[in-house]
Amino acid sequence: MKIFTTKQALQQYLAQIKAAGKTIGFVPTMGALHLGHLSLIEQAQQQNDVIVCSIFVNPSQFNDPKDLEKYPRTIEADTRLLEQVNCDVLFNPEVNEMYDGNEHWHLNMGELERLLEGKFRPGHYQGVTQIVYKLFNIVNPDTAYFGQKDYQQFAVISKMVELMQLPVKLVMCAIKREDDGLAMSSRNIHLTADDRLHALILSKTLYWVKENFSSHQIASLQSEAASLISAEPGVELEYFEIADGSTLHPANESTKSAVALVAAKVGKTRLIDNIILS
Ligand code: PAJ
Repeated sequence: MKIFTTKQALQQYLAQIKAAGKTIGFVPTMGALHLGHLSLIEQAQQQNDVIVCSIFVNPSQFNDPKDLEKYPRTIEADTRLLEQVNCDVLFNPEVNEMYDGNEHWHLNMGELERLLEGKFRPGHYQGVTQIVYKLFNIVNPDTAYFGQKDYQQFAVISKMVELMQLPVKLVMCAIKREDDGLAMSSRNIHLTADDRLHALILSKTLYWVKENFSSHQIASLQSEAASLISAEPGVELEYFEIADGSTLHPANESTKSAVALVAAKVGKTRLIDNIILS
């Protein structure tokens, strides 16, 4: 695997790949890699000649400095994993390679950044789009792969690609779960043994809602789901919402593609999860 830490060296290398007519699949990450990330790489490998993975803990998308500080950083283990799965290129820049210190970014995403995650993490999606835009410009991929795990992030990045007419195709990849249902996440490292058990209420409730979706009213499913989660010890619910899968506005009985999304603090760790209902 080739490892680059500067934009220039990466771009020089990728220019040769492009000139040879090869396609580039791109998987941006913040590291602390798990099987969820690797499933994105695998899907990218099936559809492209060369795979670029980036690992960069992006400061501008953290609204809580403590969260940024304690975000897991496991670059040696990550590099080994990427080598094991035959990733072609790793881009692992320092913060000052990506940010020169005084730059302005604002993308008008409308309601999308005020709903759900947007409400609980103000500014988060400005930071996400800022870094993904920079990375897209550097890597210039044919296709970029993102997880359904961050459903709203996918919607926000799709909106950016549309607004800025970026020449990249986006693919959403299914959520990888542990055998007991917990969605894999870099943040799961922070869960205590008790938290780990309590966290299961999130996926259990999502599956329960999916099972009952065609036979129950949305409002009653939503309130029942919220009560189930709130009743779990050590779990503090932020939102449980059944939303329209494309606008993320609250769903109603005539919504064609609905998704249930949840965010909760389990112990000290904030987790998100979702399930596509129809
Ligand atoms: P990170 O949280 O590292 O996630 C990188 C990619 O892996 C995202 O597209 C995310 O949705 C996907 N992913 C995470 N857990 C997954 C799981 N259990 N199953 C499938 N895919 C999963 O998302 C980010 O980083 C950042 O916001 C980033 C896009 C890199 C911008 O900084």
